[in-house]
Amino acid sequence: MFSLFLPGDFAMQSDCDYKEPFHVAIIMDGNGRWATRRGLPRTAGHSAGVATVRRLIEAIPAMGVSTLTLFAFSSDNWRRPADEVGALMVLLRTYLRSEARRFIENDMRLSVIGRRDRLPAGLVRQIEEVEHATASGRRLHVRVALDYSSRDAILQAAVQLGSVDKPSREHFGKLVSKAREGDAASPEVDLLIRTGGEKRLSDFLLWESAYAELWFSEKMWPDFGTEDLQASIAEFRRRDRRFGGLSNVA
Ligand code: IPE
Ligand code: IPE
Ligand code: MG
Repeated sequence: MFSLFLPGDFAMQSDCDYKEPFHVAIIMDGNGRWATRRGLPRTAGHSAGVATVRRLIEAIPAMGVSTLTLFAFSSDNWRRPADEVGALMVLLRTYLRSEARRFIENDMRLSVIGRRDRLPAGLVRQIEEVEHATASGRRLHVRVALDYSSRDAILQAAVQLGSVDKPSREHFGKLVSKAREGDAASPEVDLLIRTGGEKRLSDFLLWESAYAELWFSEKMWPDFGTEDLQASIAEFRRRDRRFGGLSNVA
């Protein structure tokens, strides 16, 4: 098989079996427009967006996903009006508090990636509590990105790397995950979904998405359903991921 002739890293990737547990990352966009179109305040869209998260998390372990990373608040979202930011912080804290039990019962782990030093103290305490309480969850790892900027994580990793003789992607990737992310290792993204009709990354998991399959949905996040997620995963499984090599599909 041709991959035997490739250096280790590349051989592993080109042998990738899509039946293996995989990592889905979602840019949950469109809450504000969803609400505005209904004559509601934007914050009503964020509340509706939380309901979507609950629905999908229930369904997702059965779809073969082992890690789900959700973009909930970007470092650039601090630019929004204070009342929207404040409402989001309250909503996030309430979500984490209410979900802990459900996560434990379903053997799922919840952790948060991103900066914590600018978050309200009560939210940080809630994050620490839920991370501790769900740490042994094995069925699904849900990572919520809060005050997250991928460029900041890469920048910090570059500072940490300093001047080493032979920098490797693997080592640098670990530094990227350690920088402002709770985990020791941030898995590569297999499938990256963005709702809300925009086709951009908005500073989300740039390093980790180097070979991610991209899926864009016109639906606003509160309208994104289990069937949409299933459709994206079905297409993901059909895609021929070549990683720069040649097709494995006969
Ligand atoms: C995504 O929805 C949620 C956050 C960024 C917090 P938006 O709030 O960006 O919704 P739109 O894009 O304005 O519709
Ligand atoms: C990205 O959405 C961040 C989240 C979904 C949390 P934004 O709505 O902030 O992105 P832009 O401003 O449209 O690029
Ligand atoms: Mg948006």
